[in-house]
Amino acid sequence: MSFNINETDRLLSTTRSVKRRLDLQREVSEEIILDCIDIAEQAPTGGNQSSRRWLVIRDPETKKEIADLYREVGGKFLKEQSELLDGTGHHNEKTIKASSYLAEHLEEIPVIVLVTIYGQHDGSGRPGLFDSVIQAAWSFCLALHSRGLGSAWTTMHLGNASKIAELLDIPEGVTQVVLLPVAHTIGDKFSPVPRDPAREITWFEKWGKTTKKPTSGLASFEDEPGLTVETDVKATPAKLWDLISDINISSHFSNEFEGADWLDEPPQEGARFKGRNKNERIGEWEVTCHVTSYEPNKVFAWAVGDVEKPAATWEFRLTPLAGATRLRFAMVLGPGPSGLTRIIEQAPDSEKKIISNRQRDQHVNMRETVEGIKKLAEKN
Ligand SMILES: Cc1cc2nc3c(=O)[nH]c(=O)nc-3n(C[C@H](O)[C@H](O)[C@H](O)COP(=O)(O)O)c2cc1C
Repeated sequence: MSFNINETDRLLSTTRSVKRRLDLQREVSEEIILDCIDIAEQAPTGGNQSSRRWLVIRDPETKKEIADLYREVGGKFLKEQSELLDGTGHHNEKTIKASSYLAEHLEEIPVIVLVTIYGQHDGSGRPGLFDSVIQAAWSFCLALHSRGLGSAWTTMHLGNASKIAELLDIPEGVTQVVLLPVAHTIGDKFSPVPRDPAREITWFEKWGKTTKKPTSGLASFEDEPGLTVETDVKATPAKLWDLISDINISSHFSNEFEGADWLDEPPQEGARFKGRNKNERIGEWEVTCHVTSYEPNKVFAWAVGDVEKPAATWEFRLTPLAGATRLRFAMVLGPGPSGLTRIIEQAPDSEKKIISNRQRDQHVNMRETVEGIKKLAEKN
């Protein structure tokens, strides 16, 4: 059996959280809901047990009570944030506004589907819990979307899970996982959204290891192997930016990197700096680096040596999270020559091992750098 990959991929990449484009006027038939549940029940389940239970709510009074309990958890916060972020262009403005709209209109949505499962998570890893329900709930969302309906994955009600259980007669020992408002969508044009590319969030063989080119098993130099370390910091991007845009920051934490001086001012994309390094195996060297990306509070990246064919590229990246910032420090070896390539030339048969050893040392240095920056940023 073959699939139309374009169509399946389109379904998978355009099933959005629909909040403002739910048609509040149009009825949703019971058949459509049950069809989608039948499809969803094809999802895997631990021990092949049937433990998922779906609660479909249409009664206006019950929906109103659920909506009130939902809003009690975070409705006020969403409304305030939505007003605060209005027109600011903040990275979360759209999401918060849509979430606030959904909270305000929850009772007007034709159907609320609560997905639950028999059992309570006790951390034992036994089958039949969250790990047996989330995939089915998502299949339900996909099946809705392919039929011209939409939903949004919501969990805010869980802050009031016991009151919701009381309202809906959900017995003890049943876990509520997700609340899905369901309606026909207004229009049918939904688009994929920007997400991190697979190569930036997929590690090969060991945690943090990347390659820019396809490889199988341990990476060769020509695969452009890289390393990424990340840590979540309780500080604003602006505070972290002051630290990561300091070209001497790594020298405080890494015994490989001695320091650097700007060759061009002001620091910006295209500006150069000279870095001084030392390494037990490779010795001491000085190298000119070119800033390839300089976006305050977001990205600081540079190429080592020849900007067209660098010996390595490095990048600090900041991603805002709720109440924190994710600090990402990534490097890619090559494609240009370096001390490392000279070592490989002397022992070409050991290329993969040499790279692997080099990456092991680098991993330690990079981890120490991000943890050091985190400590500084969280200190005051
Ligand atoms: C675990 C989880 C919990 C969520 N909880 C809520 C929620 O309580 N209320 C809400 O409006 N959206 C909720 N969302 C939806 C996200 O806001 C939404 O997925 C995000 O904005 C991205 O939009 P997209 O799904 O269209 O890509 C939740 C999503 C996930 C995965």
